[in-house]
Amino acid sequence: MNKDQDMTLSSELQNPSVRRIGDEQLTPTQIVEQLDKYIIGQKEAKKSVAIALRNRLRRQNVGEELRDEIMPNNIIMIGPTGVGKTEIARRLAKLARAPFVKVEASKFTEVGYVGRDVESMIRDLVEQSVAMVRSEKSEEVREKAALLVEERLLDILLPPVSGIEEPERSGDEDETVVVEGDAEVVSDKNLEREVNRKSRQKMLERLRSGRMEDRQIELETSSDGQGGMMQIFGPLGQMEELGGIMQDLMSGMPKKKKKRRLTIAEARKLLEQEEVQKLIDMDAVVKEALRKVEESGIVFIDEIDKIAAPTTGAGGKGPDVSREGVQRDLLPIVEGSAVSTKYGVVKTDHVLFIASGAFHVARPSDLIPELQGRFPIRVELKSLTEEDFFLILTQPRNALIKQYRAMLMTEDIDLEFTDEAICEIARTAAKVNETVENIGARRLHTILTNLLEELMFGIPEMVTAGAIEKHVVIDADKVREKLGKVAADRDLSQYIL
Ligand SMILES: Nc1ncnc2c1ncn2[C@@H]1O[C@H](COP(=O)(O)OP(=O)(O)OP(=O)(O)O)[C@@H](O)[C@H]1O
Ligand SMILES: [Mg+2]
Repeated sequence: MNKDQDMTLSSELQNPSVRRIGDEQLTPTQIVEQLDKYIIGQKEAKKSVAIALRNRLRRQNVGEELRDEIMPNNIIMIGPTGVGKTEIARRLAKLARAPFVKVEASKFTEVGYVGRDVESMIRDLVEQSVAMVRSEKSEEVREKAALLVEERLLDILLPPVSGIEEPERSGDEDETVVVEGDAEVVSDKNLEREVNRKSRQKMLERLRSGRMEDRQIELETSSDGQGGMMQIFGPLGQMEELGGIMQDLMSGMPKKKKKRRLTIAEARKLLEQEEVQKLIDMDAVVKEALRKVEESGIVFIDEIDKIAAPTTGAGGKGPDVSREGVQRDLLPIVEGSAVSTKYGVVKTDHVLFIASGAFHVARPSDLIPELQGRFPIRVELKSLTEEDFFLILTQPRNALIKQYRAMLMTEDIDLEFTDEAICEIARTAAKVNETVENIGARRLHTILTNLLEELMFGIPEMVTAGAIEKHVVIDADKVREKLGKVAADRDLSQYIL
């Protein structure tokens, strides 16, 4: 290398044009802490994804020569069903406020999908990102839009007297009045305006008080609220593009106006959409969305094991070829390439790919070597135990027991589970998983629905009939009474739990 030898290491390694890793980015420890609020156990997996997220940022900040040498930190999560693989990836994306899509790798091998370009996952990611940024921006202009909507509603309810809005400006008609110099006409006009202004003020207050929400008004709207709901279906990515182009063409055409009768509440919603739309700069949204995808997008590829051919597979060559084909199609995207979407070209170099699979039959080593190399991090998720189930039922922010409590709270019922009852539920879940089929934490859902079915069904009547106390306690006996027999019977639980 004929590079200047004096160059300091740091300036050689760092890319000065890129912002440094700032405080606004979570550290791996903080990421794990956040994930802990929702996911029980699976420490290794959490650590890996946290490091991967941070490393992506580090890689983006490294100087150009070295950046391309550093492997992306794509991950394969290996583990049985229902132990939190998808959940971890989803939460991670939320935390990072990153665009996120989940695709099933096997769908690319399905009949009708073969040949469908794998790039569509990146298009979906962009779509998702645009929607995300748009809703963020909408939030920013919401208040402003609400004010404009109020003004428009007011105009419908109590149209302003001409010239009322700009009394100082000499509008055409006003001027003639003034030039005529007829003082009485002027003061009449002023009086009228003054009255109008006052009543509009009053009307505005009533509008704000929410007392008029049900009142009907007539509103002129474009013929459809969504601006062209046309979709074109086709097996190829290009067709989607075509759909986009057609849509653009359509939206350029003049829209038919239509008068509709709506309540103020409905009109407010409609007008708000319109105003928000006008206030948002879509070009800026798209630019930001593309940047987000490139810098922080996360693609979750589920069932990656389904496209890995087990080496010992005695089956014919047929399906293996298409599976391997999908792997080959995936390669350039995972490796980093430019994908064209209807919003523009995106580079996938820094998109984080998290693949997951049970790998019961195939193993990660059954993937083609090039793809293996692109997923250098392997992490195994553990089967969940009875103790895990207890924690999953109670600890996460969105724990099932909390969900049920919150639902019944809306009917003024305080639902309580004793610790023994929760233990019993956890024990039953573990047992059924063992005897019937291990579906992980998903078992808790089926068991709880079963346990609470009667309560959920009958509560409204029980409340009106006064046949129930406001405080419902589920104890271990109740759980055993309801689930004991079913859980003990393998055939029964196969169907019910
Ligand atoms: N470790 C865990 N902590 C808390 N909740 C969990 C955990 N594992 C699973 N769950 C719950 O179980 C459900 C299913 O989990 P998830 O979707 O992550 O399964 P998965 O591992 O992706 O399974 P599959 O291989 O079938 O896709 C989720 O709704 C989640 O709430
Ligand atoms: Mg999953």
